[in-house]
Formats: sequence, structure tokens, C-alpha cells
Amino acid sequence: MDIENLERLIRGRRSIRQWKKGEVPDELLKKAVELATWAPNGGNYQGWRFIIVKRKEIIEKMADAVQSVANRIASWPEAISWQEDVNRYQKNASFFRGAPACIGVFASEYQSPMDRVLVARESFDREAKKILGFRRSAPTTIQSAAAAVTTMLLVFHGMGLGAVWLVSPIQAKKEIEAILKIPSNMKLICLVAVGYPGESPRRDRKPVEQVMEFVY
Ligand SMILES: Cc1cc2nc3c(=O)[nH]c(=O)nc-3n(C[C@H](O)[C@H](O)[C@H](O)COP(=O)(O)O)c2cc1C
Repeated sequence: MDIENLERLIRGRRSIRQWKKGEVPDELLKKAVELATWAPNGGNYQGWRFIIVKRKEIIEKMADAVQSVANRIASWPEAISWQEDVNRYQKNASFFRGAPACIGVFASEYQSPMDRVLVARESFDREAKKILGFRRSAPTTIQSAAAAVTTMLLVFHGMGLGAVWLVSPIQAKKEIEAILKIPSNMKLICLVAVGYPGESPRRDRKPVEQVMEFVY
């Protein structure tokens, strides 16, 4: 692929939150996940797992769990301070129930050899504890899964599918892990809802000069 086509793919992808009814073929879902596993990842540990849910009742169950937590948060008195935004979040909390497929992205924690040394010392060495804190502030496990999800979204777009990365379902982490029968060493990172796009939203980006600088 030349750079112009790559640029078109990257610029053309948008988060899609409405889908047509049609089913997404297993081969496309499998191919997107397979390509996602070629993403860079910490230590090439590949501690990720992708659960592709196509059964409507299971997607509904996950959506109900997320909606129920969103309703609870919105009912707390503190929500009044941000009422309008909270109402909007509550209203949109489970829109992914309309997706033909929903991929649960899970990961087991990656520990580099440095992490192991730091963990062994953290209880009695303040410096080791501080450095471990730095490492934990930018977890490799999550960065690796994010690289895979980014790759997956681009592949879906290249296939003519429309997907959205969903972190808000983490509010119902335990419920989703139970619904999908995930072993306790694997943690929910996010969901990716996907189908044939039923909308073509436009979104902008800040000019790159606003977010970039060179250091010579
Ligand atoms: C880490 C991450 C978490 C996100 N979580 C949600 C989410 O919970 N719900 C949602 O509707 N969109 C979510 N999105 C999608 C963003 O809202 C979207 O990428 C952003 O608004 C830019 O739009 P675009 O993807 O169409 O360019 C998430 C995106 C990222 C990268």
C-alpha cells in the first residue's frame, strides 16, 4: 500500500455508533483480530484475548449491565452538578446493544524483568516504589491492547465496516467478565462494537501545529 492509500484509510476512519442490520461474516472478524495481533506490544508478550460476541442476547446482557451501572451513577446526588452531561452519558451508555457484533478485549498483566525487580523491592525501598509508580502510571498492558484495538479499527474501516472503541463499559467490568466467563487473570480493557455502518459522521482534528513541536 502506498502512503496516499494509507493516509486515506487513517483519515477516513470514524467511530461508528449506528449499524445496519446485516451480520458481519466470521472471516472478516477473525481477519481483523488476527491483524490486530500484529500490533506492537510490550515484550511481545501478547497477553491479550479477544472474545467475539455475535449472539444478540449476550450483547443485550452486557448492555443491560452497563446501563444499570450508568443509571446508578446518574442517580447519585453528586450528578446534579453535571446534570446535562451526566444525562447525555446515561442516555448513550448502552447504544452498543444495536451492534451486530461486539468484541471484548481482555489482557493479562505484562511484567517486564524490571517490573519484577521493582515489585520485589517496593515494600522496603522508596526509590523502587517510586519508579514502579512511574511504570504503573503508563501500564504496558493497556498500551499494548490499545495498539491492537487501533489496528483492528483501521482494518474494519478498510473492510467497509464501522466500529467504535468503548471504554465506558468498564463501569460494569465484573458483570461483563462474568457474562463472558473470563478467567480471573484476564482483565477487561474495552469493547469494540462493529457492523456495517448506518451513519457517516464527520469529525475534525486540531491542527497538528497545536499538538506537536520539534526539539532540535
Ligand atoms: C480510549 C478510548 C475510549 C473510548 N471510549 C468510548 C466510549 O466509551 N464510548 C464512545 O461512544 N466512544 C468512545 N471512544 C470513541 C471516541 O469518542 C472517538 O474516537 C473520538 O470522539 C474521535 O472520533 P473518531 O473516532 O470518529 O475520530 C473511545 C475512544 C478511545 C480511543
